[in-house]
Amino acid sequence: MASSIIVRPLAGSLGAEVFGVNLSGELDPSTVAQIRRAFHEYLVIFFREQDASDNDLAHFARYFGELAVLPPHRQHPGSLPELLIIDKKPEDALVFGWEWHSDTTHLEIPPLGSVLAARILPPVGGDTLFANQYMAYDTLSDGMKTMLAGLRAVHANGHILASLEAEDVLAQGQGYGSHTTLSAVHPVIRTHPETGKKALFVNSLHTERFEDMTVAESAPLLRFLFEHSTRPEFTCRFRWAPGSIAFWDNRCCQHLALDDYPGQRRLMHRVQLRGTRPV
Ligand code: SIN
Repeated sequence: MASSIIVRPLAGSLGAEVFGVNLSGELDPSTVAQIRRAFHEYLVIFFREQDASDNDLAHFARYFGELAVLPPHRQHPGSLPELLIIDKKPEDALVFGWEWHSDTTHLEIPPLGSVLAARILPPVGGDTLFANQYMAYDTLSDGMKTMLAGLRAVHANGHILASLEAEDVLAQGQGYGSHTTLSAVHPVIRTHPETGKKALFVNSLHTERFEDMTVAESAPLLRFLFEHSTRPEFTCRFRWAPGSIAFWDNRCCQHLALDDYPGQRRLMHRVQLRGTRPV
């Protein structure tokens, strides 16, 4: 008999904890369908007290799509080619994902979503924040929606590379690897391919300017959109514990890894699902 999962919302805007699922086992089609429904309704879902290996993470993610292989400079010998290791050591200056963002929107095809597991946590701190980008879109005025509908924006990794350079992180060889500058152009409003809902799709870590405009011309409106899209009432905050796993939808939410545990280690393992071109 198919089992029922229990879904407990974490905040008014997005995020829910899901109970009654063992992510290191096989999932029946009904359970996968229930998880997919929760994922679409809450945008980011959390599982607790899981004993999932890296292979289990990959196996779980594959119920929802194809895994995206990482570029060679991000791979670790002996681990899965899709496994991103996020390792903030006590002496490290920067936290991976320290500003609001959707993952790797400087790529032509950003990921559908990510599955992130806690491996080593600081005694306190290191929470992750998420923000609902459907709400960010829905709460704009009709005039702003109409104006943004025709706009596209340039997303790049220049800001990340500049921050790494300023903090001397690249020189310290903390695994960021490639200095290659990458960029892609995406619509400012994207339609979610599965729910059909519209979401704001700009973020302060990657979005540099509007297409055919200068950085200076773009800055005032982008600043407004960055602030608007991460208003506290659009967010939830997840407190990690050993065995916690998050699965978020990169197409309709942003996230930020809090940098509030200086001198401590935090180790997370992540796999990404291949996305589609934003439209
Ligand atoms: C990320 O995927 O941006 C990192 C999130 C986190 O470490 O909490």
